[in-house]
Amino acid sequence: MLKRPFLLGSLSLPSNVLCAPLAGCSDVPFRRMTVKYKPGLVFCEMVKMDALIRNDPTTLRFLDYEHSMHPIGGQLCGSKPALAGPCAKIIEDLGFDVVDLNCGCPVDKVTKDGSGSGMLKTLDLIGEVLSNMVAAVKIPVTVKIRAGWDAHHIVAPQVVEIAEQAGAAAICVHGRTRAQGYTGPANWDFIRDCKRAAKRIPVIGNGDIFDAPSAERIFQYTGCDAILLARGTMGQPWLIEDIYRHLSGEPAHIRTGIEHRDVFFEHVQHILSYQIERKALLDLRRVGCWFLRKAPNMRHLREAINRATSVVDIQKMICEYPWEAVEFVNEQVVEECASC
Ligand SMILES: Cc1cc2nc3c(=O)[nH]c(=O)nc-3n(C[C@H](O)[C@H](O)[C@H](O)COP(=O)(O)O)c2cc1C
Repeated sequence: MLKRPFLLGSLSLPSNVLCAPLAGCSDVPFRRMTVKYKPGLVFCEMVKMDALIRNDPTTLRFLDYEHSMHPIGGQLCGSKPALAGPCAKIIEDLGFDVVDLNCGCPVDKVTKDGSGSGMLKTLDLIGEVLSNMVAAVKIPVTVKIRAGWDAHHIVAPQVVEIAEQAGAAAICVHGRTRAQGYTGPANWDFIRDCKRAAKRIPVIGNGDIFDAPSAERIFQYTGCDAILLARGTMGQPWLIEDIYRHLSGEPAHIRTGIEHRDVFFEHVQHILSYQIERKALLDLRRVGCWFLRKAPNMRHLREAINRATSVVDIQKMICEYPWEAVEFVNEQVVEECASC
């Protein structure tokens, strides 16, 4: 269950509750919020090897981080063995503590050249890419996979063996196939099977951990060594702390409307200090959606934020809203919105 600290290869992490790479989401403002609750590790958004090797400025910005964010992981996406070592070395030289290989991204643009979950069709290539990464760096190399390309091609336990042979320090298993995308529940059987297949390396369970009880359930059901939180931390960065409390037998902390406002407002301030106004406006809409979808009757504020044309207006709307009266529900998203 909960381990504090948790050993990843030669690296001692503060805990075995980790935060996932989230393209378009786990940027600097997002990570400033999650590290407040002291996860074992946070990840930047994935970066493409092809872009990293040519010092693409947008790609380097994805890897921007602050000292307070250690321990921090960088994630590589690519299928060219020749680029794998040099790219892993760039991540290490940038000061990252862990480098991960993405074998799970389901997006066509990524899989069409055999990268991301496309690699689940070429298992030898996973071994070759991982071995080259391991040979190039001293930091732990990990790999994050889905269960397989589709339900007829489940390869996760085989990849565990390949990862062990290649010298990876851990494998993270998202309990969905590529064909599933993000629909339907994650199937934790796949994670359990990988844990059974693993002889030397820890297995990190991922998929549908949205609250503290689901964290306990995935540990119990799969026997996994660590967990990776993803969508569950969007708009509730305190999920990490909730899980620590729950797994340590401490009473749950029920957050008031005012506490929600304060955390939301803090995230907003981080966005404003990090992004130019045009980008900040877009980010505020997305992040506003995360924070406001778990309470009934917040549609009005959400829509007002989506319509706003200045960040000052958005700050004012948040401050003037009667948060004392808002009750957030713990498990279910009450309303989805178009920009989520
Ligand atoms: C918006 C979004 C962006 C994601 N970006 C990445 C990524 O860059 N790298 C990666 O390995 N997985 C990525 N994922 C997958 C998550 O890390 C995680 O495996 C998946 O969401 C399942 O966990 P969950 O059910 O707890 O959300 C992304 C998922 C979402 C929803």
